[in-house]
Formats: sequence, structure tokens, C-alpha cells
Amino acid sequence: MKSLYEGLVRPLLFSLDAETAHHFSIASLRRASHFDLVLRSLKRFAPPSKPKTLFGLTFPNPIGLAAGLDKNGVALPAWAALGFGFIEIGTVTAAAQPGNPKPRIFRLPEQEALINRLGFNNDGADAIAKRLRGLRESGRWPPVPVGINIGKSRTTPLERATDDYLYSFRLLREFGDYITLNVSSPNTPGLRELQEPAALSQLLHAIGSEPGPVAKPIVVKISPDLSPVELEAILAACEENGVAGIIATNTTLDHASIPPELDAEGGLSGAPLKEKSTALVRSIAANSKLPVIASGGVCDAESAREKFEAGAQLVQLYTGFIYRGPRVFREIVGTL
Ligand SMILES: Cc1cc2nc3c(=O)[nH]c(=O)nc-3n(C[C@H](O)[C@H](O)[C@H](O)COP(=O)(O)O)c2cc1C
Repeated sequence: MKSLYEGLVRPLLFSLDAETAHHFSIASLRRASHFDLVLRSLKRFAPPSKPKTLFGLTFPNPIGLAAGLDKNGVALPAWAALGFGFIEIGTVTAAAQPGNPKPRIFRLPEQEALINRLGFNNDGADAIAKRLRGLRESGRWPPVPVGINIGKSRTTPLERATDDYLYSFRLLREFGDYITLNVSSPNTPGLRELQEPAALSQLLHAIGSEPGPVAKPIVVKISPDLSPVELEAILAACEENGVAGIIATNTTLDHASIPPELDAEGGLSGAPLKEKSTALVRSIAANSKLPVIASGGVCDAESAREKFEAGAQLVQLYTGFIYRGPRVFREIVGTL
């Protein structure tokens, strides 16, 4: 039987263009975040508790929200009420920025996929830090771990990337239970070059040397398009610099599985990314002790199980949630 989401909400949202539907959904969840009654009614989608400990944090279940859905951290209470075991906001950049020209998100329903070239549209680290402080002071901070994903502002040259990350890190680290360094989005020119060993080591060293009251776990989000040699060098740099874990993976630039008439420029996510992304999880688990958060093509219990079997400790969803809605948690968490 179709869920309320698949039968009613999704057809309505899919009658809008992808970005309008996104804004409408986020605006609704943002409003919902202010009302206890609404949050309580969202909780009926929430799965049973399946706690998991990682980085010294307790996750009520191992299924989280991937970065990019709530870039500006406007709906944290609603995501927690829906049943996400953790929430990653961002990517946040030092400077507020509008992102690439529209259209920039494309649905491929047959493939259960999305292509996006948003380019880190976000309110910027200052505004988001202010918003998170307000949320904390309001007493509505969600009862699940929150990750903050940071990236490079488009206008900052690659040689000054470290300063850009440090700016956001200093402002936001107090609010995150872990901080993700995103060096793998394909839509900011040059960003993926920060995965090269020298550049990555410099960034990790700078972040790791930042004095602060409490050391927060640092997680690095990597691309699925890495060669085995590149992956090995990244894992070495992460291990040398005390990184807590790896998110594998971001979206792919490999569109080989997409019919040319449906193709668009940007990062591909969802079902066509699954195998490639799982292979990376497996390879990290085989070659390093770093815990892995898997992201890429999870849309049901079976695809989540594949990630855990490949060695993932936690799993994140984006595209699967767009196509399947909140019921997907019950389905996944129920089988764990
Ligand atoms: C529209 C869209 C926007 C995204 N924005 C970000 C982002 O800002 N930062 C990031 O690290 N990943 C971003 N991602 C990547 C997702 O977090 C996730 O890693 C990727 O989509 C693979 O997971 P999925 O197949 O479950 O979607 C975005 C993905 C989509 C579809």
C-alpha cells in the first residue's frame, strides 16, 4: 500500500519544479519546527529506537539526514521529530552565496535519481551561527546529534581555501556534534582538488591545530569518483591528522547510466550512485580503521543493509527520502 507521502504529498511536490518543491518542503518543516503539536504529529513516522554509539556520541538510530537538504539549518526540530537518527546541515560557506543559475536540480524518477548543480547556495556562516544560537537558546535544540558540513566559498581562490574553512569552523564548531569538511562537491570549481594529499593535509592540519574548548570529531566527505590510489592517499592523510571518520560518498560525475536525453550537468545522486558508493565504503573498511558514514543511493532496507554489510557504521539519506518520504525510516530501522 502506498504511504500518505507516496500517494498524496509526493505527487503534489512533483507537480512543482524540483527547487520550488524543495523550498516549499523546507518552509513547511521550518514552520513545523515552531509548534510542539505539529512536531508530536510528525513523530508518528519516527522509527523505534535502535541506538548506536560513534565518536563518543549516541545516535538514537543510525539513519541520518545527508547534507544539502537543510543547508541553512532551519528545521532541526522537524527532522528529529520525523525520526532521523542524526542531522547534517550545510554545506555552509564563510560567505553567503546565491549558488549557480537556475534550473539546477533535476529529477529522474525512472532512475530514482537526482542531478544537481546548486553550487553551495547558503546563508553563510555568520547568519547560520546566529540561527543555531537562537535555536539553542529557545530550548528547541533537537535530541539527536547534529553535524555541520562546511565548504569553500566560490569567490575564495583555492590557495586560500584553508582560511575560508577556518572562518566557518570557528563560528560553527560549538554547535556541531561533529564537523564535516566537504572537499568533494562537484559544483564548486576546484573544490575536489582539496582531496589531493598535500592540500588535504594542509587543511586537516590547520583545522586540527585550531585551539578550542572542546575538540569536535572531524569527518571528511569524499567523492565516489576517486581512483584506488587517490583513496589510499586520502585515508593516509586523514589517519595522520586525527580525522574521526569518512563520509562516503558525495554525488558522482559519472553519468554513464543516464540516458543522454535525460542528462544534465551536475552531481548525480540516488540509485545509480549506489554501487559505486558502496564499493568505496567496502574499500575504506578493508584498508583503514576509520569509521564510515555511508551516503549514496540508500532508498530502502535492502540498500541500507548493503551499506552496513560493506562496513558502514552510520548511513545518510537524501535522494531516497525525496522519493520515498518519511516511511523509509520505519522500513530501514525496523529491519536493523
Ligand atoms: C540537491 C542536492 C544537494 C546537495 N547538497 C549537498 C551539500 O550542500 N553538501 C554536501 O556535502 N552534499 C550535498 N549533497 C549530496 C548528498 O548529501 C549525498 O551525499 C548524495 O546525494 C548521495 O546520497 P543520496 O544518493 O542518498 O542522495 C546534495 C545532494 C543533492 C541531491
